[in-house]
Amino acid sequence: MSVQQLTYPRPEKGSGFDLTIPRSPIVDAYRQSTQGSEVLHLRAEQALAGGNSRQVSYWSPHPIAIASADGAHLTDVDGRRYIDFTNNYTSLVHGHAYPPILETVDRQIKNGTVWSAQNEHQIDLAELLVERIPAIDKVRFTNSGTEASNLALSIARAVTKRHKILMSRFGYHGSLTETETGSFNHDYPATTYLGEYNNAESFENILEHHGEEIAAVFLEPVLGSAGIIAADREFLLRVKEAAHKAGALFILDEVVTFRLHEGGRQKALGIEADLTMLGKLIGGGFPVGAVGGPDDLMDVFQSSDLRTYHSGTFNGNPVTTAAGVVAVRDLTQKSIDEMEKLAERLKNGLAAAAQKVNLPFCVSHVGSLMNVFFSNEIPQAALMREDQAAMSRFHIAALNQGLFIAGRGLMAMSTIMDEALIDEAIDRAAVAMSDVAAEL
Ligand SMILES: Cc1ncc(COP(=O)(O)O)c(C=O)c1O
Repeated sequence: MSVQQLTYPRPEKGSGFDLTIPRSPIVDAYRQSTQGSEVLHLRAEQALAGGNSRQVSYWSPHPIAIASADGAHLTDVDGRRYIDFTNNYTSLVHGHAYPPILETVDRQIKNGTVWSAQNEHQIDLAELLVERIPAIDKVRFTNSGTEASNLALSIARAVTKRHKILMSRFGYHGSLTETETGSFNHDYPATTYLGEYNNAESFENILEHHGEEIAAVFLEPVLGSAGIIAADREFLLRVKEAAHKAGALFILDEVVTFRLHEGGRQKALGIEADLTMLGKLIGGGFPVGAVGGPDDLMDVFQSSDLRTYHSGTFNGNPVTTAAGVVAVRDLTQKSIDEMEKLAERLKNGLAAAAQKVNLPFCVSHVGSLMNVFFSNEIPQAALMREDQAAMSRFHIAALNQGLFIAGRGLMAMSTIMDEALIDEAIDRAAVAMSDVAAEL
């Protein structure tokens, strides 16, 4: 099997999904109430390529421009308030402007924001991660999950002297050309093999036939951007075994899933990765990424035996890492369990609301993460969804009701949410669903 042999729908625009919807009462109401955002979007299109710097922050007819954020809420430039269920795509696990992080960052920035020497906060954050994740003895920081992918790949290449990778179809490990192919059907990275998620045999076959070329297998313990689809423990264990048999590293991407357990999803499942990628929440709202692993692999950075060069002007900077220490410290197992209960409440409330207006509906759900679908069954991945007409309308209809969710239906809880807020969100979603039902 090779990358070129696999075919799947090529996304048109935006976050990998064509969010263009025809003119309708939902769209008219949206345009009417978000005129300030439209003006900024027109201006953005003059100076920013594609009108933005982040594909998921674009949607049709124009994205909302946010003026401020606090706790569980966003306020747009037209003064409209939204309950935010994206939490910057799962990274703000304590919501916006979390006071303990603000206080820490405020103290830090008065002492300088970055310098080209050691700072204690990055040591504190590294120690905290080593304490939390059994598979990690040492950590190295980057500025994004994408850079963590690149770093993990560099380590794997240095250790194995191989070049290629194996990942899951529909997997996402950041916008690195080697890994984008999982979702975006680029033809050019001849460096990447794709297996089928939750199908151990497909990974075993590729490793059996091409193992000697493969430096590492990258896997998300839960497919995130592909719609919150959990991996079976058995699948992960079999892929790890096959990777080791082939002499490749087994890398778990916990950029999103670290929020699912104090020690990451791997601890919850009792599996240890060779290398673990982290990002999002560990920066407390600031740009971050990290790779961690056991001493024998992370030794590629020992100055006495430097086998991988890694530098970065803002790596491990004191602002990000000070914020990250607070974010990780305050993410306790108790708060993780409470977020899961809120997600369960939200899921049940949304299902009841959909049923009331006869919309097909289902939810993929792991812990504090969920993805909604307007179909009777959860698709293999969000890119395979057949409910695009309903989803795109619901996205805009929800915004009209002051509910901010991802265009692909992702909803992530934060520790500062409570039952009353969830019930308010369900009420708003119910109105949005009834607007959608009227248009379909
Ligand atoms: C599983 C996973 N890995 C890596 C990344 C890339 O992280 P970043 O956007 O910080 O580059 C993401 C981002 O969404 C992700 O979901």
